[in-house]
Amino acid sequence: MSFIVAIDGPAGTGKGTLAGILAKKYNLVNIDTGATYRCVTLEMLNKNIKLDDEEKIAQILKTIKIEMSNENGKQKVLLNGEDVTEKIRGKEVSENVSQVSSIKQIRLALSGLQRKMAQGKDVIMEGRDIGTVVFPTADIKIYLDADVEERARRRLKQNEEKGIQMSYEEILENIKMRDKNDKEKEFGALKVAPGATVIDTTNMTIKQVEQEISKIIDKKLKQKKKEAKIYAVRPETTWKKIERAVIKKLIYWFYRILFRIEKINEENIPLDEPCIVCANHINYWDAVGLVVTSKRRIRFIAKEDLFNNGFLNWIAHVFDVIPIKRGMRDLDSMKTCLKALKNGETLGIFPEGTRKGLAKGAKVQNGAAYMAIKTKVKVVPVGIQGNFKPFTKVKLNYGKPLDFTKLDSKNPEKDNLEQATKEIMDNIVMLTKQEK
Ligand code: DC
Repeated sequence: MSFIVAIDGPAGTGKGTLAGILAKKYNLVNIDTGATYRCVTLEMLNKNIKLDDEEKIAQILKTIKIEMSNENGKQKVLLNGEDVTEKIRGKEVSENVSQVSSIKQIRLALSGLQRKMAQGKDVIMEGRDIGTVVFPTADIKIYLDADVEERARRRLKQNEEKGIQMSYEEILENIKMRDKNDKEKEFGALKVAPGATVIDTTNMTIKQVEQEISKIIDKKLKQKKKEAKIYAVRPETTWKKIERAVIKKLIYWFYRILFRIEKINEENIPLDEPCIVCANHINYWDAVGLVVTSKRRIRFIAKEDLFNNGFLNWIAHVFDVIPIKRGMRDLDSMKTCLKALKNGETLGIFPEGTRKGLAKGAKVQNGAAYMAIKTKVKVVPVGIQGNFKPFTKVKLNYGKPLDFTKLDSKNPEKDNLEQATKEIMDNIVMLTKQEK
Protein backbone atom coordinates (compact mmCIF):
# COMPACT_ATOMS: atom_id res chain seq x y z
CA MET A 1 0.00 0.00 0.00
CA SER A 2 1.44 3.35 -0.90
CA PHE A 3 1.06 6.61 0.96
CA ILE A 4 0.48 9.75 -1.11
CA VAL A 5 0.72 13.36 -0.03
CA ALA A 6 -0.47 15.79 -2.71
CA ILE A 7 0.55 19.43 -2.49
CA ASP A 8 -1.00 21.85 -4.95
CA GLY A 9 -0.98 25.60 -5.22
CA PRO A 10 0.26 28.50 -7.33
CA ALA A 11 3.94 29.30 -7.93
CA GLY A 12 5.95 30.58 -4.99
CA THR A 13 3.82 29.28 -2.16
CA GLY A 14 6.65 27.15 -0.81
CA LYS A 15 5.49 23.83 -2.26
CA GLY A 16 8.96 22.79 -3.40
CA THR A 17 10.74 23.75 -0.18
CA LEU A 18 8.12 22.09 1.98
CA ALA A 19 7.98 18.95 -0.14
CA GLY A 20 11.75 18.64 0.26
CA ILE A 21 11.63 19.05 4.05
CA LEU A 22 8.66 16.74 4.51
CA ALA A 23 10.10 14.11 2.15
CA LYS A 24 13.20 13.92 4.33
CA LYS A 25 11.24 13.97 7.59
CA TYR A 26 8.84 11.19 6.59
CA ASN A 27 11.08 9.29 4.19
CA LEU A 28 8.90 10.00 1.16
CA VAL A 29 9.93 10.11 -2.49
CA ASN A 30 9.71 13.74 -3.58
CA ILE A 31 8.17 14.24 -7.03
CA ASP A 32 8.15 17.79 -8.41
CA THR A 33 5.63 17.57 -11.25
CA GLY A 34 6.38 21.16 -12.35
CA ALA A 35 9.85 19.92 -13.26
CA THR A 36 8.32 17.36 -15.64
CA TYR A 37 6.46 20.16 -17.48
CA ARG A 38 9.65 22.21 -17.47
CA CYS A 39 11.59 19.31 -19.01
CA VAL A 40 9.09 18.95 -21.85
CA THR A 41 9.23 22.73 -22.38
CA LEU A 42 13.02 22.66 -22.56
CA GLU A 43 12.95 19.76 -24.99
CA MET A 44 10.46 21.61 -27.21
CA LEU A 45 12.62 24.75 -27.12
CA ASN A 46 15.77 22.74 -27.89
CA LYS A 47 14.10 21.06 -30.85
CA ASN A 48 12.26 24.16 -31.97
CA ILE A 49 8.89 22.47 -31.76
CA LYS A 50 5.83 24.69 -32.07
CA LEU A 51 3.01 24.52 -29.50
CA ASP A 52 0.54 23.25 -32.10
CA ASP A 53 2.76 20.61 -33.67
CA GLU A 54 0.90 17.61 -32.25
CA GLU A 55 2.88 15.05 -34.19
CA LYS A 56 6.31 16.22 -33.03
CA ILE A 57 5.03 16.66 -29.48
CA ALA A 58 3.74 13.08 -29.55
CA GLN A 59 7.18 11.93 -30.66
CA ILE A 60 8.89 13.74 -27.79
CA LEU A 61 6.41 12.35 -25.27
CA LYS A 62 7.02 8.84 -26.50
CA THR A 63 10.77 8.95 -26.04
CA ILE A 64 11.38 11.51 -23.30
CA LYS A 65 13.18 10.25 -20.21
CA ILE A 66 12.84 12.30 -17.05
CA GLU A 67 14.65 11.27 -13.90
CA MET A 68 14.54 12.99 -10.54
CA SER A 69 16.78 12.40 -7.59
CA ASN A 70 17.73 14.06 -4.37
CA GLU A 71 21.39 14.61 -3.62
CA ASN A 72 22.17 15.98 -0.16
CA GLY A 73 18.75 17.59 0.02
CA LYS A 74 19.15 19.19 -3.43
CA GLN A 75 16.91 18.20 -6.30
CA LYS A 76 18.60 16.91 -9.45
CA VAL A 77 16.71 16.57 -12.73
CA LEU A 78 17.97 14.58 -15.70
CA LEU A 79 16.40 15.00 -19.13
CA ASN A 80 17.34 12.16 -21.46
CA GLY A 81 20.41 11.62 -19.32
CA GLU A 82 21.53 15.28 -19.25
CA ASP A 83 21.57 17.24 -15.97
CA VAL A 84 19.08 20.08 -16.60
CA THR A 85 18.49 21.07 -12.95
CA GLU A 86 19.51 24.68 -13.59
CA LYS A 87 18.38 24.99 -17.20
CA ILE A 88 14.74 24.18 -16.49
CA ARG A 89 14.57 27.09 -14.00
CA GLY A 90 15.90 29.59 -16.57
CA LYS A 91 13.98 32.52 -18.02
CA GLU A 92 13.10 30.96 -21.35
CA VAL A 93 11.61 27.82 -19.87
CA SER A 94 9.78 29.81 -17.15
CA GLU A 95 8.20 32.04 -19.79
CA ASN A 96 6.95 29.13 -21.91
CA VAL A 97 6.13 26.37 -19.43
CA SER A 98 2.65 27.60 -18.62
CA GLN A 99 1.55 27.46 -22.25
CA VAL A 100 3.17 24.08 -22.73
CA SER A 101 1.39 22.76 -19.65
CA SER A 102 -1.97 23.85 -21.12
CA ILE A 103 -1.70 21.33 -23.95
CA LYS A 104 -4.04 18.42 -23.27
CA GLN A 105 -1.84 15.89 -25.04
CA ILE A 106 1.07 16.83 -22.78
CA ARG A 107 -1.03 16.87 -19.60
CA LEU A 108 -2.38 13.38 -20.30
CA ALA A 109 1.08 11.95 -20.94
CA LEU A 110 2.69 13.65 -17.95
CA SER A 111 -0.13 12.73 -15.54
CA GLY A 112 0.48 9.10 -16.56
CA LEU A 113 4.22 9.48 -16.14
CA GLN A 114 3.76 11.05 -12.70
CA ARG A 115 1.52 8.18 -11.57
CA LYS A 116 4.13 5.74 -12.82
CA MET A 117 6.87 7.57 -10.92
CA ALA A 118 4.80 7.13 -7.73
CA GLN A 119 3.79 3.52 -8.31
CA GLY A 120 4.14 1.41 -5.17
CA LYS A 121 6.04 4.15 -3.34
CA ASP A 122 5.32 6.50 -0.46
CA VAL A 123 5.48 9.90 -2.10
CA ILE A 124 5.02 13.60 -1.66
CA MET A 125 4.03 15.06 -5.00
CA GLU A 126 3.71 18.75 -5.67
CA GLY A 127 2.13 20.57 -8.56
CA ARG A 128 -1.17 22.10 -9.67
CA ASP A 129 -3.51 19.20 -10.32
CA ILE A 130 -2.22 16.42 -8.08
CA GLY A 131 -5.21 16.35 -5.73
CA THR A 132 -7.69 16.96 -8.52
CA VAL A 133 -6.42 14.88 -11.46
CA VAL A 134 -3.25 12.85 -10.85
CA PHE A 135 -4.18 11.42 -7.42
CA PRO A 136 -7.73 12.43 -6.51
CA THR A 137 -7.69 9.69 -3.87
CA ALA A 138 -4.40 10.83 -2.28
CA ASP A 139 -4.15 10.16 1.46
CA ILE A 140 -3.51 13.84 2.12
CA LYS A 141 -4.34 16.83 -0.03
CA ILE A 142 -2.88 20.24 0.76
CA TYR A 143 -3.51 23.47 -1.14
CA LEU A 144 -0.94 26.17 -0.39
CA ASP A 145 -1.72 29.78 -1.17
CA ALA A 146 -0.12 33.21 -0.58
CA ASP A 147 -0.29 36.83 -1.79
CA VAL A 148 1.26 37.27 -5.22
CA GLU A 149 3.80 39.95 -4.09
CA GLU A 150 5.02 37.75 -1.27
CA ARG A 151 5.39 34.86 -3.68
CA ALA A 152 7.42 37.00 -6.10
CA ARG A 153 9.74 38.09 -3.25
CA ARG A 154 10.27 34.45 -2.27
CA ARG A 155 11.03 33.40 -5.85
CA LEU A 156 13.50 36.31 -6.22
CA LYS A 157 15.40 35.16 -3.14
CA GLN A 158 15.38 31.58 -4.35
CA ASN A 159 16.68 32.60 -7.79
CA GLU A 160 19.44 34.74 -6.25
CA GLU A 161 20.58 31.78 -4.20
CA LYS A 162 20.67 29.66 -7.35
CA GLY A 163 22.39 32.42 -9.35
CA ILE A 164 19.45 32.86 -11.72
CA GLN A 165 19.26 36.43 -13.12
CA MET A 166 15.69 37.81 -13.06
CA SER A 167 14.42 41.10 -11.62
CA TYR A 168 11.60 41.32 -9.04
CA GLU A 169 9.33 42.96 -11.64
CA GLU A 170 10.04 40.26 -14.19
CA ILE A 171 9.32 37.53 -11.64
CA LEU A 172 6.10 39.23 -10.48
CA GLU A 173 4.85 39.57 -14.05
CA ASN A 174 5.80 35.97 -14.79
CA ILE A 175 4.01 34.66 -11.70
CA LYS A 176 0.88 36.72 -12.45
CA MET A 177 0.82 35.47 -15.98
CA ARG A 178 1.30 31.86 -14.84
CA ASP A 179 -1.39 32.19 -12.15
CA LYS A 180 -3.85 33.32 -14.77
CA ASN A 181 -2.87 30.56 -17.16
CA ASP A 182 -2.83 27.89 -14.46
CA LYS A 183 -6.27 28.80 -13.17
CA GLU A 184 -7.90 29.24 -16.58
CA LYS A 185 -6.51 26.09 -18.15
CA GLU A 186 -9.11 23.94 -19.85
CA PHE A 187 -7.48 20.75 -18.56
CA GLY A 188 -5.85 20.30 -15.18
CA ALA A 189 -6.66 23.85 -14.04
CA LEU A 190 -5.34 24.90 -10.66
CA LYS A 191 -8.12 24.65 -8.11
CA VAL A 192 -8.66 23.42 -4.59
CA ALA A 193 -9.25 19.67 -4.66
CA PRO A 194 -12.31 18.34 -2.81
CA GLY A 195 -11.24 17.45 0.71
CA ALA A 196 -7.99 19.45 0.53
CA THR A 197 -6.72 21.52 3.48
CA VAL A 198 -6.07 25.09 2.36
CA ILE A 199 -3.14 26.85 4.04
CA ASP A 200 -2.46 30.55 3.41
CA THR A 201 1.30 30.88 3.89
CA THR A 202 1.59 34.67 3.33
CA ASN A 203 2.41 35.41 6.96
CA MET A 204 3.80 32.04 7.91
CA THR A 205 7.36 30.86 8.13
CA ILE A 206 8.33 27.64 6.41
CA LYS A 207 8.72 26.08 9.87
CA GLN A 208 5.15 26.98 10.76
CA VAL A 209 3.74 25.55 7.55
CA GLU A 210 5.86 22.45 8.02
CA GLN A 211 4.41 21.98 11.50
CA GLU A 212 0.87 22.42 10.27
CA ILE A 213 1.28 19.87 7.48
CA SER A 214 3.18 17.52 9.80
CA LYS A 215 0.20 17.46 12.16
CA ILE A 216 -2.01 16.36 9.27
CA ILE A 217 0.49 13.72 8.13
CA ASP A 218 0.98 12.37 11.69
CA LYS A 219 -2.76 12.01 12.17
CA LYS A 220 -3.18 10.24 8.84
CA LEU A 221 -0.24 7.89 9.45
CA LYS A 222 -1.71 6.93 12.81
CA GLN A 223 -5.06 6.26 11.17
CA LYS A 224 -3.40 4.21 8.39
CA LYS A 225 -1.53 2.15 10.96
CA LYS A 226 -4.76 1.39 12.76
CA GLU A 227 -6.49 0.55 9.47
CA ALA A 228 -3.64 -1.75 8.43
CA LYS A 229 -4.16 -3.70 11.67
CA ILE A 230 -7.90 -3.90 11.05
CA TYR A 231 -7.52 -5.02 7.45
CA ALA A 232 -4.77 -7.55 8.17
CA VAL A 233 -5.93 -11.15 8.07
CA ARG A 234 -4.62 -13.23 10.96
CA PRO A 235 -2.46 -16.10 9.71
CA GLU A 236 -4.38 -19.37 9.76
CA THR A 237 -2.43 -21.06 12.56
CA THR A 238 -3.49 -24.13 14.55
CA TRP A 239 -4.07 -21.85 17.54
CA LYS A 240 -6.42 -19.66 15.52
CA LYS A 241 -8.31 -22.74 14.33
CA ILE A 242 -8.70 -23.89 17.93
CA GLU A 243 -9.89 -20.42 19.00
CA ARG A 244 -12.43 -20.40 16.18
CA ALA A 245 -13.72 -23.88 16.89
CA VAL A 246 -14.11 -23.17 20.63
CA ILE A 247 -15.78 -19.77 20.16
CA LYS A 248 -18.07 -21.17 17.47
CA LYS A 249 -19.20 -23.99 19.76
CA LEU A 250 -19.71 -21.66 22.73
CA ILE A 251 -21.73 -19.14 20.76
CA TYR A 252 -23.62 -21.95 19.05
CA TRP A 253 -24.87 -23.32 22.38
CA PHE A 254 -25.60 -19.89 23.70
CA TYR A 255 -27.56 -19.21 20.51
CA ARG A 256 -29.45 -22.48 20.80
CA ILE A 257 -30.49 -21.55 24.33
CA LEU A 258 -31.43 -18.00 23.43
CA PHE A 259 -33.34 -18.77 20.22
CA ARG A 260 -35.05 -21.76 18.75
CA ILE A 261 -33.19 -22.16 15.48
CA GLU A 262 -34.72 -23.72 12.42
CA LYS A 263 -32.65 -24.11 9.27
CA ILE A 264 -34.57 -24.68 6.06
CA ASN A 265 -32.89 -26.06 2.93
CA GLU A 266 -29.36 -25.38 4.14
CA GLU A 267 -28.17 -27.82 1.48
CA ASN A 268 -28.65 -24.94 -0.97
CA ILE A 269 -25.23 -23.67 0.13
CA PRO A 270 -22.76 -25.46 -2.14
CA LEU A 271 -19.94 -27.09 -0.20
CA ASP A 272 -17.45 -27.43 -3.01
CA GLU A 273 -17.37 -24.01 -4.65
CA PRO A 274 -17.14 -20.38 -3.53
CA CYS A 275 -20.38 -18.52 -3.01
CA ILE A 276 -21.91 -15.38 -1.56
CA VAL A 277 -24.56 -15.76 1.10
CA CYS A 278 -26.92 -12.77 1.02
CA ALA A 279 -29.53 -12.29 3.71
CA ASN A 280 -31.91 -9.71 5.10
CA HIS A 281 -30.55 -7.89 8.16
CA ILE A 282 -32.87 -7.66 11.13
CA ASN A 283 -30.57 -7.72 14.11
CA TYR A 284 -26.85 -8.03 14.96
CA TRP A 285 -27.58 -11.62 15.94
CA ASP A 286 -28.53 -12.69 12.43
CA ALA A 287 -24.94 -12.65 11.12
CA VAL A 288 -23.79 -14.54 14.21
CA GLY A 289 -26.54 -17.10 13.65
CA LEU A 290 -25.57 -17.72 10.05
CA VAL A 291 -21.88 -18.09 10.94
CA VAL A 292 -22.21 -20.40 13.96
CA THR A 293 -24.90 -22.67 12.56
CA SER A 294 -23.50 -23.04 9.05
CA LYS A 295 -21.55 -26.06 7.89
CA ARG A 296 -19.49 -23.75 5.72
CA ARG A 297 -17.14 -21.16 7.04
CA ILE A 298 -18.76 -17.83 6.17
CA ARG A 299 -16.68 -14.64 6.15
CA PHE A 300 -19.00 -11.74 6.81
CA ILE A 301 -18.43 -8.22 5.63
CA ALA A 302 -18.92 -5.74 8.44
CA LYS A 303 -18.58 -2.00 8.89
CA GLU A 304 -15.17 -0.84 10.04
CA ASP A 305 -16.52 0.69 13.29
CA LEU A 306 -17.11 -2.79 14.67
CA PHE A 307 -13.34 -3.25 14.86
CA ASN A 308 -12.98 -0.31 17.27
CA ASN A 309 -14.22 -2.52 20.08
CA GLY A 310 -11.30 -4.64 21.33
CA PHE A 311 -13.39 -7.76 22.01
CA LEU A 312 -15.29 -7.63 18.72
CA ASN A 313 -12.04 -6.88 16.90
CA TRP A 314 -10.55 -10.09 18.29
CA ILE A 315 -13.63 -12.18 17.39
CA ALA A 316 -13.75 -10.59 13.92
CA HIS A 317 -10.12 -11.54 13.27
CA VAL A 318 -10.70 -15.08 14.45
CA PHE A 319 -13.58 -15.41 11.96
CA ASP A 320 -11.78 -13.38 9.26
CA VAL A 321 -14.56 -10.82 9.04
CA ILE A 322 -13.83 -8.36 6.22
CA PRO A 323 -14.03 -4.68 7.20
CA ILE A 324 -15.70 -2.14 4.95
CA LYS A 325 -15.75 1.64 5.12
CA ARG A 326 -19.21 3.17 5.00
CA GLY A 327 -20.35 5.73 2.44
CA MET A 328 -17.51 5.28 -0.07
CA ARG A 329 -16.09 2.77 -2.50
CA ASP A 330 -13.76 0.78 -0.29
CA LEU A 331 -11.30 -0.71 -2.76
CA ASP A 332 -9.24 -2.50 -0.10
CA SER A 333 -12.34 -4.25 1.13
CA MET A 334 -13.42 -5.14 -2.40
CA LYS A 335 -9.96 -6.55 -3.17
CA THR A 336 -10.05 -8.73 -0.03
CA CYS A 337 -13.51 -10.04 -0.98
CA LEU A 338 -12.55 -10.84 -4.56
CA LYS A 339 -9.40 -12.58 -3.35
CA ALA A 340 -11.44 -14.67 -0.88
CA LEU A 341 -13.86 -15.75 -3.60
CA LYS A 342 -11.01 -16.64 -5.94
CA ASN A 343 -9.65 -18.66 -3.03
CA GLY A 344 -12.86 -20.71 -2.94
CA GLU A 345 -14.25 -19.12 0.24
CA THR A 346 -17.81 -18.15 1.18
CA LEU A 347 -18.72 -14.54 1.86
CA GLY A 348 -21.66 -13.25 3.85
CA ILE A 349 -23.23 -9.95 2.85
CA PHE A 350 -26.30 -7.99 3.89
CA PRO A 351 -27.22 -6.09 0.71
CA GLU A 352 -29.52 -3.85 2.75
CA GLY A 353 -26.31 -2.34 4.16
CA THR A 354 -27.86 -1.58 7.48
CA ARG A 355 -30.30 -3.28 9.87
CA LYS A 356 -33.85 -3.24 8.51
CA GLY A 357 -32.50 -1.27 5.54
CA LEU A 358 -35.42 -2.14 3.27
CA ALA A 359 -37.98 -0.94 5.78
CA LYS A 360 -35.96 2.25 6.36
CA GLY A 361 -35.86 2.86 2.61
CA ALA A 362 -32.03 2.61 2.47
CA LYS A 363 -30.51 2.11 -0.97
CA VAL A 364 -29.73 -1.56 -1.52
CA GLN A 365 -25.97 -2.02 -2.03
CA ASN A 366 -24.89 -3.70 -5.24
CA GLY A 367 -21.50 -4.98 -4.01
CA ALA A 368 -22.69 -8.60 -3.80
CA ALA A 369 -24.07 -8.51 -7.34
CA TYR A 370 -20.86 -6.88 -8.58
CA MET A 371 -18.68 -9.59 -7.06
CA ALA A 372 -20.96 -12.40 -8.19
CA ILE A 373 -20.92 -11.17 -11.80
CA LYS A 374 -17.22 -10.38 -11.74
CA THR A 375 -16.08 -13.73 -10.28
CA LYS A 376 -18.96 -15.85 -11.66
CA VAL A 377 -19.79 -17.27 -8.24
CA LYS A 378 -23.35 -18.05 -7.18
CA VAL A 379 -25.39 -16.08 -4.67
CA VAL A 380 -27.34 -18.01 -2.06
CA PRO A 381 -30.25 -15.87 -0.84
CA VAL A 382 -31.37 -16.37 2.74
CA GLY A 383 -34.59 -15.12 4.30
CA ILE A 384 -34.19 -14.68 8.03
CA GLN A 385 -37.46 -14.84 9.91
CA GLY A 386 -37.91 -13.91 13.55
CA ASN A 387 -37.94 -10.96 15.89
CA PHE A 388 -34.86 -12.04 17.90
CA LYS A 389 -36.65 -11.70 21.22
CA PRO A 390 -35.13 -14.20 23.70
CA PHE A 391 -36.54 -17.74 23.49
CA THR A 392 -38.43 -17.08 20.27
CA LYS A 393 -37.98 -18.90 16.98
CA VAL A 394 -35.46 -17.82 14.33
CA LYS A 395 -35.78 -19.37 10.90
CA LEU A 396 -32.92 -19.35 8.39
CA ASN A 397 -34.56 -20.05 5.06
CA TYR A 398 -31.96 -20.83 2.36
CA GLY A 399 -33.00 -20.30 -1.26
CA LYS A 400 -31.74 -21.86 -4.48
CA PRO A 401 -28.37 -20.45 -5.62
CA LEU A 402 -28.68 -17.60 -8.12
CA ASP A 403 -26.44 -17.85 -11.14
CA PHE A 404 -25.31 -14.68 -12.94
CA THR A 405 -22.71 -16.26 -15.20
CA LYS A 406 -24.67 -15.22 -18.28
CA LEU A 407 -24.01 -11.57 -17.50
CA ASP A 408 -20.91 -9.88 -18.85
CA SER A 409 -18.25 -10.33 -16.16
CA LYS A 410 -15.92 -7.78 -17.75
CA ASN A 411 -18.40 -4.99 -17.51
CA PRO A 412 -20.63 -5.43 -14.47
CA GLU A 413 -21.13 -1.70 -13.95
CA LYS A 414 -24.24 -1.37 -16.10
CA ASP A 415 -27.94 -2.14 -15.90
CA ASN A 416 -27.24 -5.80 -15.18
CA LEU A 417 -25.79 -4.79 -11.83
CA GLU A 418 -29.09 -3.22 -10.82
CA GLN A 419 -30.96 -6.14 -12.31
CA ALA A 420 -28.88 -8.73 -10.40
CA THR A 421 -29.18 -6.76 -7.15
CA LYS A 422 -32.96 -6.66 -7.57
CA GLU A 423 -33.07 -10.39 -8.25
CA ILE A 424 -31.07 -11.09 -5.09
CA MET A 425 -33.24 -8.82 -2.96
CA ASP A 426 -36.51 -10.13 -4.42
CA ASN A 427 -35.43 -13.68 -3.56
CA ILE A 428 -34.47 -12.70 -0.03
CA VAL A 429 -37.79 -10.95 0.53
CA MET A 430 -39.68 -13.93 -0.87
CA LEU A 431 -37.75 -16.26 1.48
CA THR A 432 -38.57 -14.08 4.50
CA LYS A 433 -42.27 -14.52 3.77
CA GLN A 434 -42.23 -18.14 2.74
CA GLU A 435 -43.74 -20.66 5.15
CA LYS A 436 -42.02 -24.01 5.23
O1 DC B 1 5.86 24.48 -10.01
P1 DC B 1 6.54 25.07 -11.23
O2 DC B 1 6.57 26.55 -11.18
O3 DC B 1 7.88 24.47 -11.46
O4 DC B 1 5.63 24.63 -12.46
C1 DC B 1 5.93 25.00 -13.77
C2 DC B 1 4.67 25.15 -14.59
O5 DC B 1 4.11 23.86 -14.84
C3 DC B 1 3.61 26.00 -13.98
O6 DC B 1 3.37 27.13 -14.74
C4 DC B 1 2.37 25.18 -13.98
C5 DC B 1 2.72 23.91 -14.64
N1 DC B 1 2.33 22.76 -13.87
C6 DC B 1 1.11 22.19 -14.15
O7 DC B 1 0.39 22.68 -15.01
N2 DC B 1 0.71 21.10 -13.48
C7 DC B 1 1.47 20.57 -12.52
N3 DC B 1 1.04 19.47 -11.86
C8 DC B 1 2.70 21.16 -12.18
C9 DC B 1 3.10 22.27 -12.89
